[in-house]
Amino acid sequence: MFVETVVIGGENWLSVWAHAPVAEKAQESLGETSPRVVIQGVYIFQRANSFMTNSKVCSERELEEGSLKSFKVNGRDVVVARSNGKLYAFERWCTHEQGDMAGGVLEGAVATCPDHGSQFDLGRNGLNVAGPDGDAPGTVPDLAVFKVSVIGGDVYVDI
Ligand code: FES
Repeated sequence: MFVETVVIGGENWLSVWAHAPVAEKAQESLGETSPRVVIQGVYIFQRANSFMTNSKVCSERELEEGSLKSFKVNGRDVVVARSNGKLYAFERWCTHEQGDMAGGVLEGAVATCPDHGSQFDLGRNGLNVAGPDGDAPGTVPDLAVFKVSVIGGDVYVDI
């Protein structure tokens, strides 16, 4: 029996083994999005509601103690920093008025926004522990924190 189309799906991907018009129709009807790659007639789409995991951002050597560096990870602006030897990854834009957290300070696990001083405890899921201009904790939303890991000397952020 000749099989015209084979569709295999994973958590973050969908592969369609078919001729282009059939694959594109399958993509359309399943609501999947680009980007896609084509490998020997197999179309691989990223799922519409999925995300890539463990994206490499830099070499571990590039992150010196006390440094804060910004990266684009899967379309999201992320700061990766090292404090007391530990790596942290968190949202670049402050939840108050979008201050650039990459220009702030990280002391221990607490990141401080350079604009109005809001503080976020990265060790407690980005909990807002000081509001802007001395306001009470919890005045602004918590800051998103991401899993960061080192594999083979390279730093990966899981988004
Ligand atoms: S923008 Fe960060 S505290 Fe205001």
